[in-house]
This record gives sequence, structure tokens and C-alpha cells, in this order.
Amino acid sequence: MSFDLARVTAQLATGEVTWSLHYEPSCDSTQDLARTAAAGGAAPGWTVTTDLQLRGRGRHGRSWTAPAEKALLFSTVLQPPVDVLPLLPLLAAVTVAGGVELSTGAAPQLKWPNDVLLNGKKLAGILLERPPGSSVILGVGLNANQSAAELPEGATSLAVELGHPVEREALLAAILNDLGNAYERADREGVDWILPGWRSRTAMLGKPVTFRRDGVLLRGLAEDVGADGALLVRTADGSRLSIVAGDVELVRPD
Ligand code: BTN
Repeated sequence: MSFDLARVTAQLATGEVTWSLHYEPSCDSTQDLARTAAAGGAAPGWTVTTDLQLRGRGRHGRSWTAPAEKALLFSTVLQPPVDVLPLLPLLAAVTVAGGVELSTGAAPQLKWPNDVLLNGKKLAGILLERPPGSSVILGVGLNANQSAAELPEGATSLAVELGHPVEREALLAAILNDLGNAYERADREGVDWILPGWRSRTAMLGKPVTFRRDGVLLRGLAEDVGADGALLVRTADGSRLSIVAGDVELVRPD
């Protein structure tokens, strides 16, 4: 079934962020549509979703593919306050996981910086892009109704894990509502709650990680995340590395 924007609107809470929802049956990438909208002056909250991406992109130059009408694919224009900006990768993951839990009852785990896992497999990917100007484009690809055969290796979907189809519209509304609440909370309380929120949903702290920096594979123990959102890794020689999202590619939490 093609995506029904009216069902999202009906489930959206009104708050600080005014959501402006758009739908394209297919497109190259919702990131490109949102970038064009932002360049044309779209306000924060401008969001586009699609049933099919022809050139969906992931992190580290990878592609992101999903069969038509199965995944939740959207991009949102944001203008986060400066104190939220470094923590946005973690905050985005927390809100996607929160939205999934609110909407379906499934409790995802997080993998730094912003992968959303269910039962150890990738459920959703998040891409943050900063075009020229003050906007950030948040892109989310969430595996909703793909069958096991339609998923890449190491990935899962809500339908596979829950054993029944899920409504993509309800998922989008829940994620946007959670994001709106997060914005309001950051305004009220600052950003100190974001790291505890992320830590409470991750299983990777205290575990070995392998990552790639400048083509070199490095191993260490993931100790914590820092106030700037960096992953703090203790290497075998005892030094502590601060890994900034985008600088390195996390190969695997071992
Ligand atoms: C990742 O590599 O894990 C991030 C994947 C992000 C995919 C989403 S799908 C909607 C939006 N449009 C894109 O082209 N990419 C993001």
C-alpha cells in the first residue's frame, strides 16, 4: 500500500516543531529533496517521505536500498540549537528507537554513532548531512515490512522480528513526536539528558570494538561516549582515543 500522509497528520502531536509533511511516490533520494527544500528556505520540520528511492544513500558513501512500499524512508530539515548539534547523531538514534518502541513495543538497541538494532541486527540507519547554511538534513531508513529475503545481510525488519506487518505512518508519527519532545526537552533542560538516554539503549559500552581510521584497522574497548558525542575507546597500549563520528568507520562491535 502506498504511503498515506493523512494518517501521519492525524497522529502528530502539536508542539514546538511545526511539521510540514510531503510525499513523493518515488525519488532518487529524500535527502536530495530535503536539501533542495532547505536551500529554498524550508523551515525546520519540513519532512518528505517516499515509497521508493532509486539512489538512496547511506553513511560512508554506501547505497541504501529497499523494495517499494516496504520501508519507512524520510528526510527532515532541522536547525538544531548549537548545544544540540554535536549530540544530534546520538539524539536522532534515541528518538528513532523511542518512536519504534512507542509505536510497536519493540525495544531497539543503539550502536554508536547512530545505528538502530533489533536483536543484534540493523533495523534502521540514520544519515545526517549539512548542506551550506544553517540546516541539517536528518535522513532515516527504517526496515518496516521487508521479508527476510528482501533484507541485506545483517539487517532485520520490524515485520520479521514481530511476526506481523507494521504501519509505516504510525512509525513516522511516533518518531516525529519523539523528536519534537526532544527539542522541547533540550529547550527546557539543556542537553545533559541526551547521553544517559543513549547509554540506556546501547549494549556496546564495555565491549571490544574494531574501527578503521585512515584505512588502518584499530581495536579497543568502547568505554563511554563523551560530552561531545565522541566514542571513547581504550586501546591495548592503554591510551584512550576519542572517536568522532564521520572520522572513522566502526567496523563492528565485536
Ligand atoms: C546508514 O548508512 O546507516 C544510513 C542510511 C540512511 C538511509 C536513509 S533512507 C532516507 C534518506 N534518504 C537517503 O538517501 N538516505 C536516508
